[in-house]
Amino acid sequence: MDQTGTVDNLLTEERVFRPLPQMVRQANLSPQKCEAARKLAADDPLSFWEEAAEELYWFKRWDQVLDDSNPPHYRWFPGAQCNIVYNALDRHIETAAKNRLALIWEGEPGDSRKYTYYELYRAVNRLASALRGLGLSKGEKVVLYLPNLPETVIAMLASAKIGAPHCLVFAGFSAKALRERIRSTGASTVITADGFYRNGRVIALKNVVDEALSGEDSPWVRRVIVVHRANVQANMVEGRDFWYEDLVRHERPQAQTEAMDANDPLFILHTSGATGKPKGVVHSHGGYMVGVNRTFSWVFDIKATDIFWCTADLGWVTGHTGAVYGPLMAGTTTLIYEGHPLYPQADRFWNIVSKYGVTILYTSPTVIRMLKRFGSQYPRRHDLATLRLLGSVGEPISPETWMWFHKHIGRSECPVLDTWWQTETGMFMISPLPVSLLKPGSVGKALPGVEVDVVDREGNPTPAGKGGYLVVTKPWPGMMSALHNDREGYFQDYWKLIPGCYFAGDVARRDEDGYLWIQGRADDVLNIAGHRLGTAELESALVSHPAVAEAAVIGVADPIKGEVAKGFAVLNQTAAPSPALAEELRQHIRRELGPVASVREVVFRDRLPRTRSGKLLRRVLRAEETGQDISQDLGDISALEE
Ligand code: WTA
Repeated sequence: MDQTGTVDNLLTEERVFRPLPQMVRQANLSPQKCEAARKLAADDPLSFWEEAAEELYWFKRWDQVLDDSNPPHYRWFPGAQCNIVYNALDRHIETAAKNRLALIWEGEPGDSRKYTYYELYRAVNRLASALRGLGLSKGEKVVLYLPNLPETVIAMLASAKIGAPHCLVFAGFSAKALRERIRSTGASTVITADGFYRNGRVIALKNVVDEALSGEDSPWVRRVIVVHRANVQANMVEGRDFWYEDLVRHERPQAQTEAMDANDPLFILHTSGATGKPKGVVHSHGGYMVGVNRTFSWVFDIKATDIFWCTADLGWVTGHTGAVYGPLMAGTTTLIYEGHPLYPQADRFWNIVSKYGVTILYTSPTVIRMLKRFGSQYPRRHDLATLRLLGSVGEPISPETWMWFHKHIGRSECPVLDTWWQTETGMFMISPLPVSLLKPGSVGKALPGVEVDVVDREGNPTPAGKGGYLVVTKPWPGMMSALHNDREGYFQDYWKLIPGCYFAGDVARRDEDGYLWIQGRADDVLNIAGHRLGTAELESALVSHPAVAEAAVIGVADPIKGEVAKGFAVLNQTAAPSPALAEELRQHIRRELGPVASVREVVFRDRLPRTRSGKLLRRVLRAEETGQDISQDLGDISALEE
């Protein structure tokens, strides 16, 4: 939560913004159509989603829209065959979209590349052929340890095209985190780059892969494909490592798109939960493509002339849905940027918007707060008149941050669409539409076809104004199909606490008008700069240091990142507390997990608060730290489970 936007602020927020008449006139989904869609979705949700499925191409039609005979293991469109890549790419080659720009990429040093749909299609086919040539087959997993490069998009699509599920690992994760993810997916192939540019520096990547694959317990990987990006010396292992360019150079630009069962996996993406191990969220071709296609094109009102920029890293779900599959299925132009928002200075984003004529900008509150700090003179230097819609995702946006974004970036004209969703939900769930009335700081209402509620511990809806747990009460097509190799965890983590409902792990309130206000996580998951990190993962990193006997980690408010971690360590008897050791522990966590683990400080304690059964009471530490707890009305989930 922003420092400027405490929960109290949210409760007294009364500003509303009505859609401008020209916005209503131009919207693909008029207010009347929107009402009709809501009505159909409420009366007959399966017909609503069936109609959404009919907008896409299938190799074979479904036997049933939803198989709900074994909840919570729902199966969408059973019996159908499809491939999301056919819808994101192949079908556009037959239409006017063929020669439209599909992808614009800008590198941090200022270099840039553009691909039309036809060019992207051919590049994907070349890599798909090369992967097949290397013996990769349907069902084999491919780990992509890559920054935002065109090849990352190409590798996602090429893997999906041949039916090999992709698993992106954010390039800010450490060798150890990468190794864990390679091992848990059982991937046979890793695609990476020699390095990339970030904040004026070259970050080496291939050597991190080498480290992840070395040692006694290293995972078994047969092939490593390396994109040449930053002229970093790479140690190529004969027979295992290949340069991307060498592989694709002589390949044919045609490749068969594999017909997948609707419930075959498209990708695995790891996310943090309340336990020490990241969870592998699995999404399948059929349901994900239907859910993403409908919600993305409705929320962002996509037109043929748009240039859509989602600023997220491709390694997170926002990148998957918001930068790749959503925009490409919609046939629009997606823009990706390799580097840091402040490089070489605080107007880089505004420079990109004006240079390419970006029409829709989808970003996170962390980025907005970071750029806001430098003042409005930076955006004022650039022509931002092409922008027509703004979007926010990943964390609660405070009304003040929303207002700044709306006024200084959106000329007080562009609606700010605050989209609530998760790695697990795959698609946007709660969001205003361009024709909606907006309240700064609120995510609005559930999208048509999505049913959510705010409930207490017993599952009873909470009255307006009172906090509760956010749940989804009906299955939706973009929902994860499983947790990789963890059937029990899927039930335990999401479906057990409130029977019959999907438990999102967030605390929310609904106001008198039914608008939803997200307040933050209810569980032991931190949201650092919009990135999910489990306190348990941070704790196991801290306790892996030889000086530490016991550890606890909580989130503390940060003016830019929303939240950062604070560690508490009980030392072994042989170790003595000192400022140098505290710093060493902070660095240790970073080495273990990667730069994504932003820890403000580590402090020493003689003991940690625990329940009688020995469970760590993080909420006691949190209350000591802040005097309040966002889940104060409810107690946190660990309390619920005690
Ligand atoms: C948070 C990111 C407030 C929330 C797409 C959720 C949000 C977690 C919003 C999922 C929003 C996401 N307003 N909070 N608009 N969007 N969140 O899986 O706590 O990386 O549970 O997916 O981010 O994070 P994830």
